[in-house]
Amino acid sequence: MPHKIITIAQQKGGAGKTTIAAHLAVAFSQQGKRVAVIDIDPQGSLTQWHKIREKKFGEGFTGLQFSAISGWRLPNEIDRIRSNIDVVIIDSPPHTQAETKTAIRVADFVIIPAQPSPTDLWATVETVKIVTEERIPHRILMNRAVLNSKLLKDIEKQFSSVMDAKIGNRISFASSMLEGRTVTETAPSSPASDEIKSILKEISAMLFPEEKKVVVRQVEEVMG
Ligand SMILES: Nc1ncnc2c1ncn2[C@@H]1O[C@H](COP(=O)(O)OP(=O)(O)O)[C@@H](O)[C@H]1O
Ligand SMILES: [Mg+2]
Repeated sequence: MPHKIITIAQQKGGAGKTTIAAHLAVAFSQQGKRVAVIDIDPQGSLTQWHKIREKKFGEGFTGLQFSAISGWRLPNEIDRIRSNIDVVIIDSPPHTQAETKTAIRVADFVIIPAQPSPTDLWATVETVKIVTEERIPHRILMNRAVLNSKLLKDIEKQFSSVMDAKIGNRISFASSMLEGRTVTETAPSSPASDEIKSILKEISAMLFPEEKKVVVRQVEEVMG
C-alpha cells in the first residue's frame, strides 16, 4: 500500500490544527497503520505533546514516528521515511508562507480546520485558494462546532468542501492531550472519540479506497 500524506493547514492560529493532527495520528496508529508525524510549526506544540507521550509510554513506544523539522526540509524527510510508513501527518504553522506551501504541495490530502466563526472562515478562504491552485484534494473540517446550529448550516452552504464529520467543542480534546494522549485512548467510547472515528472513516474512504474493496471482497467470499 503506498503511503499517504495528510497536511493540516489553516493560516489562523487556534483553529485546531495541532489537536486534529495528534488525534488523527493516534487514531490511524490504533488501526494498525504505521504513522509518521512531522511538526513544522516552530511553536512546537505537537512536539511538546509528543514529549509528554514519550515520558508516558517510553521513547520509541508512542506508536508514532515523530520528527520536528523546518518546512523546507519536508521533501527530503518524506523521502527518508517513505519506505516503512503508511500515513504521514504534517502539522503546520499559522501562516501561508513558503514552508506551509511546501507542506501543502507534498500532500495527498489537506485538512483545513476552522471554527464556525467569521475570523476562522475568512482565514480559510486564503488556505482554500492555495490548495485549489496547487490542485490538492482538500476538505474543511469544522472544529468546536455547535452541532445542528443554524450558523453551521449557513457556513456549509457557503463552502462546497466541508467534511460530513465534524468536531464538537469538548474539553476532553484538550485534557487528553495534556497527558500526551488523545480521546480515542482516554475515552474510547465517548462522543468525542466517535467524532474522530467518523473523520477517520471519511478520510480513509478517500485515501485508501482499496481497503473498502478488500472488505467487500471478503464479505462476498463469505456470502458465496
Ligand atoms: N474541539 C475542541 N474542543 C475543545 N477545545 C479545543 C478543540 N479543538 C482545539 N481546542 C483547544 O483550542 C486551542 C487551540 O487548538 P490548537 O489545536 O492548538 O490550534 P492550532 O494548532 O490551529 O493553533 C487549544 O487550547 C486546544 O486544546
Ligand atoms: Mg498548532
